[in-house]
Amino acid sequence: MQTESHDFAVILAAGQGTRMKSALAKVLHPLVGRPMVGHVVDAAASAGLAPILVVHHQEDAVRAAFAGSDVIFARQERTRGTGDAVASALNVLPSEGTVVVMAGDAPLLRSETIASLRGAHGSAAVTVLTAEVADGAHYGRLERTADGRPWRIVEARECSDAQLAIKEINTGLYCFDIAWLREVLPSLEPHAHKSEVYLTDVVERASAEGRCNVLIHDDFDEVQGVNDRFELARARTQLQARIVEALGRSGVDFVAPDTVVVDHTVRIEPDVTVGPGAILIGSTRVAGGATIGAYCEIVDSTIGENTAIHSFSSLESAEVHGHASIGPYARLRPDSVVGDGAKVGNFVEMKKSRLGPGAKANHLSYIGDATVGEGANIGAGTITCNYDGFSKSQTTIDKDAFIGSNTALVAPVTVGEGAIVGAGSVITKNVPAGAVGIARGQQNNLDGAALRFRARKKQ
Ligand code: UD1
Ligand code: CA
Repeated sequence: MQTESHDFAVILAAGQGTRMKSALAKVLHPLVGRPMVGHVVDAAASAGLAPILVVHHQEDAVRAAFAGSDVIFARQERTRGTGDAVASALNVLPSEGTVVVMAGDAPLLRSETIASLRGAHGSAAVTVLTAEVADGAHYGRLERTADGRPWRIVEARECSDAQLAIKEINTGLYCFDIAWLREVLPSLEPHAHKSEVYLTDVVERASAEGRCNVLIHDDFDEVQGVNDRFELARARTQLQARIVEALGRSGVDFVAPDTVVVDHTVRIEPDVTVGPGAILIGSTRVAGGATIGAYCEIVDSTIGENTAIHSFSSLESAEVHGHASIGPYARLRPDSVVGDGAKVGNFVEMKKSRLGPGAKANHLSYIGDATVGEGANIGAGTITCNYDGFSKSQTTIDKDAFIGSNTALVAPVTVGEGAIVGAGSVITKNVPAGAVGIARGQQNNLDGAALRFRARKKQ
């Protein structure tokens, strides 16, 4: 439990985010494997702060996104502006001490920056983090007095031309004296714009009392807010670059680092090579020595050591053991397990099936609801007919069995250990161990018939 008052961060996440033009609340938009506000919560927690989320729009979904975590929630009754949002969190804050306030839509902020801001706060009523930019765009501007002291923050929409030209903007990260905030917040007047109460108005009060500090941050990229889909895309690019850099420095070789998509939840061991355009998401784990070819999409899957996933393969909830080879153009659907050293070649689809160690399905096959034993060979074009239109049935192919090309295995059916199935068979009955099973039309050669046919056609 938090014992000290300066241990809290209030994160404003109640807005709908209309500029996103989305049915999904802004702070829930996914960014490299977690909702946007998850990055803010993480930065607060890494800075040693207990996060308090102010919620309203899609409140249930926001709460659900943090189920099982120790995030504290505060409800804003109506989204009446950032000043009102902070006021809604007062009842879960201690009566005095220091609190950090963060915007739920600034996902790039680093915990080190929060720590610097707290370091600069001292006994001020407010400490604001600002940044200097050539074009302040939609950010609030920090106006200073003639002698350079912080004075007030003016929102872009309320700025005169002269104020718009100010290059120092409000990043939306602050430290506050809680007791002071309790006195000041209730007296803020709503603005004409949507009748909102602006948190930024407290800056003018604090400066009048000589209790406003400002810390200028030198990296504008890090403090940027996300207000529309384009800013979301830009934030994603930067977070992705951080993930790729960390993995690259830990020994992962990205052939074309700017082209990959790797969630923050993915784990890749050193000495893995990742090709251009690869997508690795969710709980994916890749062991050392593996190679991920170009344009593979790997979701919630584990890849064993020294395994090669060749280009254009798609894996979802699959488990591939070491020294295996998958693709190019293979598709492993959920609950596919590929054993050590096994091979799944081009245009092979697997679903709810196990391929034993060293087994091979090298070309153009469908293996669904099947168990394939160690060392078995599945010829090109083999199909497990697992579905009769009503229910699914199992196919079992035992150790070292050999299935000839273009075989249909009509499930439920078993091919025993070491058995051979002739190419082109439609197997509806079990093939015993060691037997040859053939089920196809007899070949009939008519001597000279082709010659007679051609002669007739030429007449
Ligand atoms: C705010 C600041 C602006 C600053 C910018 C930095 C104010 C008035 N303006 O503007 O000076 O440059 O952030 O990014 O504070 N929210 C609530 N409840 C509300 C309203 C907003 O929880 O009633 C949340 C939003 O969900 C969002 C955050 O507060 O996560 C910021 O709100 P937003 O409307 O994006 O503020 P800006 O216009 O960006
Ligand atoms: Ca914003």
